[in-house]
Amino acid sequence: MTQHTALPETVGEARATGWWRDAVIYQVYPRSFADADGDGMGDLEGIRSRLPYLAELGVDAVWLSPFYASPQADAGYDVADYRAIDPMFGTLLDADALIRDAHELGLRIIVDLVPNHSSDQHEWFQRALREGPGSPARARYHFRPGKGADGSQPPNDWESIFGGPAWTRVEDGEWYLHLFAPEQPDFNWEHPAVADEFRSILRFWLDMGVDGFRVDVAHGLVKAEGLPDLGGADQLKLLGSDAMPFFDQDGVHDVYRSWRKILEEYDGDRIAVAEAWTPTVERTANYVRPDELHQAFNFQYLGTHWDAAELRSVIDNSLEAMRPVGAPATWVLSNHDVTRHATRFAHDQHLGTQIRDAGDRALGLRRARAATLLMLALPGSAYVYQGEELGLPDVTDLPDEVRQDPAYFRGAGQDGFRDGCRVPIPWTTGGTSYGFGPGGSWLPQPEVWGSLSVEAQTGDPDSTLELYRRALATRREHPDLGAGESVAWVDAPEGVLVLRRGAFVCTANVTGEPVRIPAPAGRVLLASGETPAVSGGEAVLAPDTTVWWSE
Ligand code: GLC
Repeated sequence: MTQHTALPETVGEARATGWWRDAVIYQVYPRSFADADGDGMGDLEGIRSRLPYLAELGVDAVWLSPFYASPQADAGYDVADYRAIDPMFGTLLDADALIRDAHELGLRIIVDLVPNHSSDQHEWFQRALREGPGSPARARYHFRPGKGADGSQPPNDWESIFGGPAWTRVEDGEWYLHLFAPEQPDFNWEHPAVADEFRSILRFWLDMGVDGFRVDVAHGLVKAEGLPDLGGADQLKLLGSDAMPFFDQDGVHDVYRSWRKILEEYDGDRIAVAEAWTPTVERTANYVRPDELHQAFNFQYLGTHWDAAELRSVIDNSLEAMRPVGAPATWVLSNHDVTRHATRFAHDQHLGTQIRDAGDRALGLRRARAATLLMLALPGSAYVYQGEELGLPDVTDLPDEVRQDPAYFRGAGQDGFRDGCRVPIPWTTGGTSYGFGPGGSWLPQPEVWGSLSVEAQTGDPDSTLELYRRALATRREHPDLGAGESVAWVDAPEGVLVLRRGAFVCTANVTGEPVRIPAPAGRVLLASGETPAVSGGEAVLAPDTTVWWSE
């Protein structure tokens, strides 16, 4: 595999000024954002009508989860046609109008690209099924004969991320690989036609005017040669912590080098961000070398507990890992695949990213607000998932019969129960589906949605929405917020983080008790909770509260 070496200076300089280096990027999950046609499912027209809300919120860009033609076996991450909009979401004309309106409002648009697998309804896969073993159409996916005398055993021992074997047998006896649901066959990225097709898809959307791509399962495209067995290891335990023969193979980087060249052919600083789950931040940094992608999600940060020592170490490691490659660090607390952070932090013990229990909501919200202000204080780019600006909790009590997450049905998967963070968001205190649309909502919304709606929170200075608005406005105005590549830590009592950048100081009390510290210089710009009492050179920080200060 080609090993990367540093690129010419000019590329480095261009990167150092990109809009995306400190951008706040808002994730819209199209099914659940706003529904214009009243079918209970969000759509592009709904999103377009709410763009002024996003501009006013103060984000720089909007990333849209997939809206392409899809049978929706995995909520659109199973794409049947990469150049068409699913009728449920609208048309290409709607996409065009959405991109134009966003640009007029100063918002950039990032679309989701799903290159690891297609839908089983994709024309190529249907053809592969029809044309049978040995056909050129089969070579674009991973088809293999089974093991055992009658071929009734899967070709290797890999498991699907959603649970169960990663192989499904077709009528003629061959098996095909799917790292996710059986409706999501993996492409064979060793096949030149696959690489060509995706270069063409990139150009299609760049020509449509999008500002970038979020690359789904960016670490999965290339599989280890010969598709070797894992050898009886507990795959689910290994995921995310060890090298796997189907994830983070060096060959994926050749793909991103070729994409970077395409992005740079276009004007306007187009970017790509990798969804790459790798064992370490150092491995993640490989995806954002100067000739590859621009950003990668920081899942190590997302997985960090509400714990000062842990947070500090992840922040340091993330900044450190990005430094040699010159990419900005990124920060993210929630997305459509994990339990919302207001619910993760609603527990006193440290839990993972998939939680089934609502916990102490007030505690969760207090910590979530503090976690957000800490995140927005860090150098680099931050991702906000729709509804977190309302402090929404996960809906942990959805009845089983309404669930749609394929991981739930396959059981024992790595993910599962992801519907709880995908419940359509509330715009109004009452009315049909709390203003989500004129019809119902594809997942039932809990009663508390009314009091958490945009309408209920607008103008209330204590609301989470107004906190986000003020935080994003402050971040735009203050030169030290989001900027640079490092922070200076100031000595602080256990459980408290104090970081400085230029004239800016951020204090985070990550404990459940008030803590006294030497008062930072300057005035309080913003607090996620109670404003600290300052007297005699000391400040008392409220429990689970982050404060921004500036000279
Ligand atoms: C990514 C998406 C997730 C999807 C999976 C398969 O992890 O974020 O929602 O299920 O890829 O495409």
